[in-house]
Amino acid sequence: MTRYQQLAEQLKLQIETRVWRSGDKVPSVRMTSRNSSLSTSTVIQAYKLLEAQGWLVAKPQSGYFVTSIMGRVTEESSVKATKPHFSDKLYEFLQSSSHANVALGSAFPDPSLFPLQSINRHLASAGRKMSINSVVENMPPGNEALRRQIAQRYINHGLSVSHNDIVITSGAMEALNLSLQVVTHPGDTIVIEAPAFYGAIQAVERLGLKAIEVPVNLETGLCVNQFEKVVSQNDIKVCWIMPSFQNPTGTCLSYRKRQKIIELANQFDVVVVEDDVYSELYFGEQRPRPIKYWDKEDRVLLCGSFSKSLCPGYRVGWVVNQTFHERLQKAQLVSTLAGSLPVQEGIAHFLKYESFDKHLRKIRKELSNRQKILIQTINSYFPSNITVNRPSGGYFIWVELGAYIDTYRVYKKLQKNGISIAYGGLFSVKDQFQDCIRLNTSYPVTQELKETVRYIALMLS
Ligand SMILES: Cc1ncc(COP(=O)(O)O)c(C=O)c1O
Repeated sequence: MTRYQQLAEQLKLQIETRVWRSGDKVPSVRMTSRNSSLSTSTVIQAYKLLEAQGWLVAKPQSGYFVTSIMGRVTEESSVKATKPHFSDKLYEFLQSSSHANVALGSAFPDPSLFPLQSINRHLASAGRKMSINSVVENMPPGNEALRRQIAQRYINHGLSVSHNDIVITSGAMEALNLSLQVVTHPGDTIVIEAPAFYGAIQAVERLGLKAIEVPVNLETGLCVNQFEKVVSQNDIKVCWIMPSFQNPTGTCLSYRKRQKIIELANQFDVVVVEDDVYSELYFGEQRPRPIKYWDKEDRVLLCGSFSKSLCPGYRVGWVVNQTFHERLQKAQLVSTLAGSLPVQEGIAHFLKYESFDKHLRKIRKELSNRQKILIQTINSYFPSNITVNRPSGGYFIWVELGAYIDTYRVYKKLQKNGISIAYGGLFSVKDQFQDCIRLNTSYPVTQELKETVRYIALMLS
């Protein structure tokens, strides 16, 4: 790559990541030339390239400005011949759904469900009490008070966990990534679900692993017979499983299936990375027990988070496991060093002085109602040959359209109108689930949302 192309790529990356936003003036040719030790003609060449690709526009006497998103030559239209990496595909989806007006495709719960003002007050109180030494004291495995609170909650749900076996992470995403990282080497084979949470697929790609998919049934969850076949016939190091309110299908495994999975894991020496971020959001009587509950050999790395139950965006999660505890901490030290200290202190303070359970009871009821109304709305507008499930927790539903419809195309059309849906192709390493969508049921079903559902239905028929 020549120097002007390199400069153009750097600036393009910053525009893509919204360091520079539409309408921003980029540094003048002279200033960029001085700061980057490039000649002015090289800088002009780079700016002209970005102009030709639709990223910048030159305004006479004023300089170069970032264009609006429309009209840019994106990866998708300029490099049609190459299949994009999964992470590029995911990045495009996450970016576009975060800007949508109707967030049916989003993985985030409706933020208005959460006591964010109260948490912020606790953050402030905890901050005032923070000692000068706490920065050092809270290196991995993370804030002790918070680890104790998490361990105490597990005891309430029948699982005996020590705070000494918990590592606090930056959300469950870091917990899951670190877990996978410490138990695999590039080239290893891992079992994932089909459809799977796209974060799992991305982690597989990033770590250079091979994935074997095991189907998830819309009623009964992961097909354990198929799981048995795969682990008995292949050299599987690890499986990534979401037994409770799986993303994207919302399915929940029976306790019998959970026990069978751990038996098979013991028999074939498979580590289980258990993604348990939605288990607090059950609509029934009891929080489902994690697979970890039956794990006598400490081969389950149980990953949790407050992102779905208490404070989305605060980025606090954790891993529970004794055997890999030290390796997890080392891996964290060399990547992110540690999670954010004031946020950990603030959440621990909230958990100590407020009733997390009261808040959970409230949001479970609300989520269950919202899910019911959205499903009713879907059933009244969508074509009659669709299949939509009714999960007993979480806030996702999975819709199979029953006729071949490329939901990626529908997603692209809806995107233009500020509506996001999660198209099925995001949830598999293979080309499957094109005729499925995942919808977020956490938002209130207003008249406007009903109209949107009707509009989506029109696009699908
Ligand atoms: C199944 C699943 N696991 C993990 C995560 C990541 O959670 P966090 O926001 O705590 O990193 C998500 C978020 O969407 C998820 O849906």
